Amino acid sequence: MSQIQNPSAIPSPASLDPYWMPFTSNRRFKQNPQLLVEADGMYYTRADGKRVLDGIAGLWCVNAGHRRREIVEAISCMAHQLDYAPSFQSGHPLAFEFAEQLVSEAPAGFSNVFFSNSGSEAVDTALKIALAYQRARGNASRVRLIGRARAYHGVGFGGLSVSGISSHRKAFGNLPPYTDHLPHTYNRAEMGFSRGQPTWGAHLADDLSNLVALHDASTVAAVIVEPVSGSTGVLVPPVDYLQRLRKICDEHGILLIFDEVITGFGRVGGAFSADFFGVVPDIITSAKGLTNGAVPMGATLVRSHVYDALMQGAPDAIELPHGYTYSGHPLACAAGLAALKIYRDEELFSRAQRMSPYWEDAAHSLKGLPYVVDIRNIGLLAAIELEPIPGQPGKRGYDCHMRCLEKGALIRATGDTMVFSPPLIIEKEEVDTLFSTLTDVLKNM
Ligand SMILES: Cc1ncc(COP(=O)(O)O)c(C=O)c1O
Repeated sequence: MSQIQNPSAIPSPASLDPYWMPFTSNRRFKQNPQLLVEADGMYYTRADGKRVLDGIAGLWCVNAGHRRREIVEAISCMAHQLDYAPSFQSGHPLAFEFAEQLVSEAPAGFSNVFFSNSGSEAVDTALKIALAYQRARGNASRVRLIGRARAYHGVGFGGLSVSGISSHRKAFGNLPPYTDHLPHTYNRAEMGFSRGQPTWGAHLADDLSNLVALHDASTVAAVIVEPVSGSTGVLVPPVDYLQRLRKICDEHGILLIFDEVITGFGRVGGAFSADFFGVVPDIITSAKGLTNGAVPMGATLVRSHVYDALMQGAPDAIELPHGYTYSGHPLACAAGLAALKIYRDEELFSRAQRMSPYWEDAAHSLKGLPYVVDIRNIGLLAAIELEPIPGQPGKRGYDCHMRCLEKGALIRATGDTMVFSPPLIIEKEEVDTLFSTLTDVLKNM
């Protein structure tokens, strides 16, 4: 196979400079670059040849493990057959097939899929569909979008406006108006070291009633939440919290959006965690595991009442003036269909549940180690929260991440919380390796 350049070649420091890396301390990284040059199954290979056990599925996305032959072949075949096809007033068969397959995996009542290229775009699409839905139903005053503190909904202006990570918001200042936020659901004193869903905190959903009373329901279009907040450190919803949100939305004609960019595709259980939690939202956003991370893609799934409300007006009118040049890209659809086949054939949508007791015990075995102030888990997600170094928030987490990497395990630090989200194909010995690596690091810090 011809290669443009040797991917294992270690670049010179000067040649690293032009690439402005996302969500990275560019100056720190470029002093000590950690480059990954190959991947297979549960492992990455670094530029220095060392193998690294992937404890985070790339970036919460490689759910079936790396470089799956079926996905590689599907992408390759499609690239040889149809490199690109426009999706505006045109189409190609795979996009329709993939949409049909996705709908069949979604909770009952979901009927349609809108494709984009990332989680951020899937979220912005969902927010725009919610606004357009309300307007189409004669509720043009319903323009307010409600997010939640500590939420991450990507980096588009729409997603950022409902996100709740202050450092992401304050750098930009000028965000779309007419938003508000629920409080987050985390309270260490009440729920520290919970296994799975905390039993305290369902009442926090009732804050939605307060926001509705404050703004009036006639101004509120939709509420968006991650069923489990991932990027802010795996905040698991209290028992009955999501059910209460659903009920309040129903009482007031508000759409409920679940951002399942992380929780989808078997991460928590089921194709979507909505099934696992037993709460059916009106709209689901997804990305990441959608193509097993192999080709960028986002998908926004809607229930039939949302789609039907927008299929109105003149029969030849464009019902939703929205879309991307690469919506439903043939290579992404090929990757997605191949990924879905693997998930089904290998029963990966139920594997998180099967592994969960072992995973939970392994995570909670770190209780009592130096600096550990909380441990959270659900499905194949876990977070070990560490006490910050006074005056240096994030430093302990970063140091831990680097030391684990040196020992051959990729574990992500989000602030001072170490998060785990491995490929769903992980075996028990690899679970042990991940948590024992962090254990060794913590004992020697
Ligand atoms: C819940 C959630 N929504 C949206 C996004 C944004 O996805 P992307 O980085 O593909 O734009 C992420 C990314 O981590 C996410 O976790």
